[in-house]
Amino acid sequence: MGFYSRYILPPLIQCACSSRPIMKQREKIVPLAEGRVLEVGCGAGANFRLYDTSRVSQVFALEPDSAMISRARKASDATDGLNVEFLEAGGEAVPLEDNSVDTVVFTFTLCTIPPWEAALSEARRVLKPGGKLIYSEHGGSPDPNVAKWQRRLEPVQQALGGGCHLTRIPTQMLAETGFSVTDGQTMYLPKTPKILGYAYWGQAQVR
Ligand SMILES: C[S@@+](CC[C@H](N)C(=O)[O-])C[C@H]1O[C@@H](n2cnc3c(N)ncnc32)[C@H](O)[C@@H]1O
Repeated sequence: MGFYSRYILPPLIQCACSSRPIMKQREKIVPLAEGRVLEVGCGAGANFRLYDTSRVSQVFALEPDSAMISRARKASDATDGLNVEFLEAGGEAVPLEDNSVDTVVFTFTLCTIPPWEAALSEARRVLKPGGKLIYSEHGGSPDPNVAKWQRRLEPVQQALGGGCHLTRIPTQMLAETGFSVTDGQTMYLPKTPKILGYAYWGQAQVR
């Protein structure tokens, strides 16, 4: 791991992922989590304080980057009794049993995970029958002009943003991997460049 990935990227991601518009997006979905929860790519733990501890019994916070886990541990310690177990692993190989969680959470992570098909297939495997996947992501814009700039700038974003893509479309990714989106919503985030700020959020269930 190079100097940039080790020392510059983690605080950069933590800062970008805590902007007011992004926090508002988290507030729309994280409180819907219940029971045993798998959060894929928990990063610095920005969601932890938003879980409803009266509904969530345990959060398995999966994250492959140890520098992000160190930051997330501090966020976990600052919560009021959220039961967090860290799993240092990638979403493509989740160290949990089949049918063992009630909710899977993806926030601003489907843009980054290289083997996203494998990660969503793992989400399907570990979800109990009737369980739900909740997501809040950014992605490809439906506006041709914005989409054109997203395609042009994607290599720069990937290089500087830890592999983050601008053009992925979370609802298509979910549909392609066996999920039905039950109440997907989209909008441009306020005070955010359009190429970064086309937001997708909602819930999905295994088809
Ligand atoms: C932009 S950050 C978002 C972090 C967090 N989900 C949030 O909402 O603040 C993307 C995260 O995806 C993680 N990531 C990268 N590859 C991954 C993989 N294969 N499986 C799971 N997470 C991964 C990164 O380490 C990083 O923490």
